[in-house]
Amino acid sequence: MNKVLICLYICTISFVNAKPQGSIDLETQQKNIVCYFASWTVYRTGKGTFNVNNIDSSLCTHINFAFVGLNADATIHVLDPWESSDPSGFNGFKNIVALKKNNPNLKVLLSMGGWNEGSAIYSDVASDPVRRRKLAENVLQFLQQWGFDGFDIDWEYPGYRGGNIIIDRDDFTELLRDLSSTLKPNGYLLTAAVSGSVDKIDTAYDVKGINEILDMINVMVYDYHGQDYEMFVGHVSPLYASSLDLQHDKNATSNVKSGMEYWISHGGVAAKLNLGIVTYGRTFTLADPTNYSLYAPTVGGGLVGPYTQQIGILGYNEICEYHLRTNYYWDDEQKVPHRVWGNQWVGFEDKRSIEFKTKFAIDHQLGGVMVWSLDTDDFRNTCRGGAYPLLNAVKKGLYALS
Ligand SMILES: *[C@@H]1O[C@H](CO)[C@@H](O)[C@H](O)[C@H]1NC(C)=O
Ligand SMILES: *[C@@H]1O[C@H](CO)[C@@H](O)[C@H](O)[C@H]1NC(C)=O
Repeated sequence: MNKVLICLYICTISFVNAKPQGSIDLETQQKNIVCYFASWTVYRTGKGTFNVNNIDSSLCTHINFAFVGLNADATIHVLDPWESSDPSGFNGFKNIVALKKNNPNLKVLLSMGGWNEGSAIYSDVASDPVRRRKLAENVLQFLQQWGFDGFDIDWEYPGYRGGNIIIDRDDFTELLRDLSSTLKPNGYLLTAAVSGSVDKIDTAYDVKGINEILDMINVMVYDYHGQDYEMFVGHVSPLYASSLDLQHDKNATSNVKSGMEYWISHGGVAAKLNLGIVTYGRTFTLADPTNYSLYAPTVGGGLVGPYTQQIGILGYNEICEYHLRTNYYWDDEQKVPHRVWGNQWVGFEDKRSIEFKTKFAIDHQLGGVMVWSLDTDDFRNTCRGGAYPLLNAVKKGLYALS
C-alpha cells in the first residue's frame, strides 16, 4: 500500500470510529481507576474522619461522589445538604469538582443510588417514560450547575429489593437510553455500578443493551459472603473458587472470576468493565474459635470497628491499625487474605490480593478497576506502609504491567 492508500484506510477508520465528545476511546485509554467517595464518612470520629481534603487525586482517573438519591417525582434528592452543597458545611460537590485543578485528567462523576436507597423508587421512575426524561433533564442541569463530568447510576438492583422482577430489566435499559440521549450530546460520561452475582445478572440487566449505552460498567464483584446473608465463614471477594466451594452448590460461582467472566460472556465489552475492589473487610464471630476454616459456623458478624461502627465490617485502616498482630492467613486457592483473633474472623484485601486482581484485569483486557471506597484505605499512613497502600497497589498493578 502506498502512503495515500494507507491514509485513506486509516483516515476512514478514524472517521468511522469518531466518538461523540465525552465518551471514552477504548483503544487508547489508560486503565481506569474509578474511586468512590462516600460523603457520610465526614461524620466518622478520630482518625476515621474522611472528607474531600483527604483524597489523593493522583491515585484515581475517575472519582464518583456517592451518593445522591432519587425522589418519586424524578427530582434529585440531595441526601445530606450539609455534607454536599451547603457552603457553611463540607460543600462536597464544589470541593470534589475542584480536585480537577490538581489533576487535569481527573473526571469527577455524580453517583446516584447505593444500597441504602433500595430499589422501589428506581423501579417506579424507570417505568414511566415521562419521569425518565424528566430525570435525565434534572441530571443534566445538576451536572452543569456543579461542574461534574458525568453521571453514575447505582440502582441496587433492578428486579430486586422492592423492584419489579418483570419489568425492571428493560426499564433500566430505557432509563439509561434517556439519560444517554440527554447527557452524551452535552459531553457527559454515563456509567453504572452493577451486581457481580451470576444469579442476579440475567434478571437485573440486559447486558448487551446497557453495554452499548454505557461508557463504563463498574462491576461489584464483592460482598459474595457476609454476615448479612450467611451464618458461615466466607470471604467478601475471593478472586477464584476454593475447592470447598465446589462442595457447596452455587458457591463455586461466588467469586470475582465468575462474575467478570459472566459479564463478558453475556455481551459486556471487556474494555468497558471495571473490576470492583473493596477497601473494607467482612467479619464474623465464630461459633467455635478453634474452627475458622471456610464454611465454619458463625453466630453473626464481627465486632464493630471504631471508625466504621458497623457489625460485620472493618475498614482496612481499622484492620491494620488494631489487628496487625493477629494471625494472618493467605488462601492460595482464592488468592485473598484473612485474619483471625479469638472468635473474630475477617476476610479483606491487601497489597498481595490486589496484585492478583489487577493482573486479572490486565489479562482479561478490562477497562480497569473500581474501588469502593477511598475512606477505609489507610489514607493517613497510620500503619506506616505509606498513605493509601491499597490504592497505590491498584495503581502499581495496573500501570506497571500494562
Ligand atoms: C453456599 O453454601 C451454603 C452452605 O452449604 C448453602 O447453604 C448455600 O445455599 C450455598 N449458596 C449457594 C448460592 O449455592
Ligand atoms: C469446621 O466447620 C465445618 C463446617 O461445619 C466442618 O465441615 C469442619 O469439619 C469443621 N472443622 C473443624 C476443625 O472442626
